[in-house]
Amino acid sequence: MKTFLHWQIILSNIVAISLFVSSCQVFPAITKPKALSSYDLQVRQLLLQMTLEEKIGQMIQADQEHIKDANDIGKFFLGSVLSGGNSDPKDGNSLEAWTDLYDRCQGHALKTRLGIPILYGVDAVHGHSNVLDAVIFPHNIGLGCTRNPKLIEKIGRITAKEVRATGINWTFAPCVTVPRDERWGRTYEGFSEDPNLVKVLGAAAIRGLQGSKLSNPLSILACAKHYAGDGGTTAMIRSGRGAGGRRNTRIRLDQGDTQVDEQTLRRIHLAPYVAAINAGVGTIMPSYSSVNGVKCSENKYLLTDVLKNELGFEGFLISDYRAINQLDRNYKTAIAKSINAGMDMGMVPSEYKEFSKSLKELVEEGTVPMSRIDDAVTRILRVKFAMGLMDKKRSHLADRSLHKSFGSSKHRQVARQAVRQSIVLLKNDDKTLPIPKKLARIHVGGKCADNLGYQCGGWTIRWQGGSGNVTPGGTTILSAIKKTVSKKAEVTFSQNGTGAEGADIGIVVIGERSYVEGFGDSNDLSLDREDIEAFSNMKKAGIPVVVVLISGRPMIINDVLNQADAFLAAWLPGTEGQGVADVLFGDYKPTGKLSFTWPRSMEQIPINVGDVDYDSASVDKPLFEYGFGLTY
Ligand code: BGC
Ligand code: BGC
Repeated sequence: MKTFLHWQIILSNIVAISLFVSSCQVFPAITKPKALSSYDLQVRQLLLQMTLEEKIGQMIQADQEHIKDANDIGKFFLGSVLSGGNSDPKDGNSLEAWTDLYDRCQGHALKTRLGIPILYGVDAVHGHSNVLDAVIFPHNIGLGCTRNPKLIEKIGRITAKEVRATGINWTFAPCVTVPRDERWGRTYEGFSEDPNLVKVLGAAAIRGLQGSKLSNPLSILACAKHYAGDGGTTAMIRSGRGAGGRRNTRIRLDQGDTQVDEQTLRRIHLAPYVAAINAGVGTIMPSYSSVNGVKCSENKYLLTDVLKNELGFEGFLISDYRAINQLDRNYKTAIAKSINAGMDMGMVPSEYKEFSKSLKELVEEGTVPMSRIDDAVTRILRVKFAMGLMDKKRSHLADRSLHKSFGSSKHRQVARQAVRQSIVLLKNDDKTLPIPKKLARIHVGGKCADNLGYQCGGWTIRWQGGSGNVTPGGTTILSAIKKTVSKKAEVTFSQNGTGAEGADIGIVVIGERSYVEGFGDSNDLSLDREDIEAFSNMKKAGIPVVVVLISGRPMIINDVLNQADAFLAAWLPGTEGQGVADVLFGDYKPTGKLSFTWPRSMEQIPINVGDVDYDSASVDKPLFEYGFGLTY
C-alpha cells in the first residue's frame, strides 16, 4: 500500500513537472501576478481606523515643487507626491539630490498618525529620465521596432532599479497609446500604430517595471497611460497668419477628441489595457483627451463600467496633470465629476488644499457618496499593501546601496543593445553599409551628430528635453563613430556638412529637435532647411552619403532618400549612441522592422496597417509599409 502510494506520488510529480515544462514552452515564464484584491482584508481593517480627511489625503497627489511647506504632506495626509517634467530638487538634479528629496517627503508621511507611506511618482519613461547620469533608453517608438518583449522587460527591470536608487517607487509608464496619426507630438511615446504590438510590448514593460512581485524592493509601480484613445484624436486644422503676416496652418491633435464607434475603440485603443491588466498593472492614467466629445477624466462609462467592472481592473486611477481642472469652470464641480466617474487619485500639483477641502464638502453634502471614497482608498491601499509599503519592519527610505549601479556600464550595455535592435535600415545601395572601419577618412555632419539632447528627445532631464550635453555619461553618435573606426582612420566633422571633399564616405545625422506633448503637434514633417543643406553639402563632395535620421516619428524624406546611398531610421535612441555606430560599421547586422507605416507625403497621413485599402492597388502605397526593414 505504502509503495503504491509512493509510486503514485512520484508519478503525479512527473506528470506535474512535465505539464509545467510544456506550459512553460507555450507561455515562457509568464505567471499572473497576485490579485490586488487579495489584500482587502488588511485594507478593510486600516480603512476602519481612518478619518475622512485621512481618506481624502490618500486620494491626493501634489507636485513637490508646489508644496511650499513640506509639513503639508503630513498635514493633508497626502497619499502621493510627484515630480512633473520640470519639477527638480531645489538643490540640483543629481542622484543625491533626488534621493534626499524622496527621503524628505517620505519622512513626513511616515510621521503621520497612521504612518502610511507615500507613493512618489515620476515620468521615468525611457530610463530614470529626470535624473543626471541615468541611462536613457530609446523612446518607445524605437523599442517597437525591436519586436523584442524580452529586451523591453529587461529595460523595465533596469529602469526600476535606477528609479529605486532614488527611493522613488512609481513611474507614469508605460505609455500604451496606439498613435494613429504621426502629426501628433506624442507619437514617439507609443510602441506602434498596431495595437497587437502595443499589447505585447506594453505588457512586457509592465512585467519589467513591477517585476514578478510588487513587493520586491527592486520593483516599482507601473502606470498604463493615457486611457483611452489618446492616439486616435481627430486633427483640428486652423489656418491663420503667423509671424510677418505669412499664411500658416496650425494643427492640434494633443488632448483632442477621438471620434470612433465602440468596436473600433475597443479593437484599437482598449486592447492594450486588457493586456496591461492581465500583466498586473497597478495604476492607469485616464487621458486628457475625449472620446466622442466626453473627456476621459469624467467618463464614467469608460472608467467605471468598462475598466473596473467589465475588465476587472483592481488597481487605481490617477488623473493626468491638472486634467481635473479642465472638467468644469468651477473646481469643486470638476472634482465631483471626476471622482464620481471613477477617478481614484487626483494629480493636483498645486491645488491640493482646495481639492482636500472641496472633496470633504462634496462628501458631507452627499454629492460624492462615501462608498466612492472608500472604493478609491481601498484601491490605493491595496497597491500600497501589495508593494510592501505597509510592512513596518521594512525601511521605506531609499536604499542608497543602489547608487553604485546607477547609470552603470552594465545598464548602458542593455541600452546599446536596444539601440542596435531599434534601428531600421530603409535603403542600402551598392552595399554602402557596413562601412569598413579602415577607410582613410570619414566625414560626419548634421545637427544631430554631436547632440546628446536631440538624440534623447523629450522627457529627458527637462520636460521638453534639450540640446547638447543634457546629461553626463552618454555617447553622441559622432563620438561613437570615432571610437569605432580603426586607429588609422580619420574622422572629420562639420555640422553643415561642408568640407567633405576627399573623404571616402559621408555620414549625415539629421532630424527633429526635442519636444513633448502638444508642442510636437505638426502639420509639416518634412526635413528642415538646415538638414537638407547639410546633406547636399556632403553630396556635392561627390562621395557616398549615409543618412541617419533622429526623429520621434516617420518624416517626409523623399528627396533626401532618393539621393542617399544608405538611410537609417534611428528614432530617439537615448544616451547610447554606440548602438548606432554598431550598425553603421557592421558590429550588428540590422534587424529592426518598422512599427509604423512610413507615409510618402503629408497628404497620405493618417495611414495605418489594417486600413481597408492599405493593400489596394488603387491607392498609393506608403513609402515603406509597416514591418519594413532591410539588413545587410
Ligand atoms: C510639468 C509637466 C506636466 C505639464 C502639464 C509642466 O509644467 O512639468 O510634468 O506634464 O506641466 O501641462
Ligand atoms: C502628461 C503625462 C505625465 C504627467 C506628469 C502630463 O502632462 O500628459 O503623460 O505623466 O504630465 O508629468
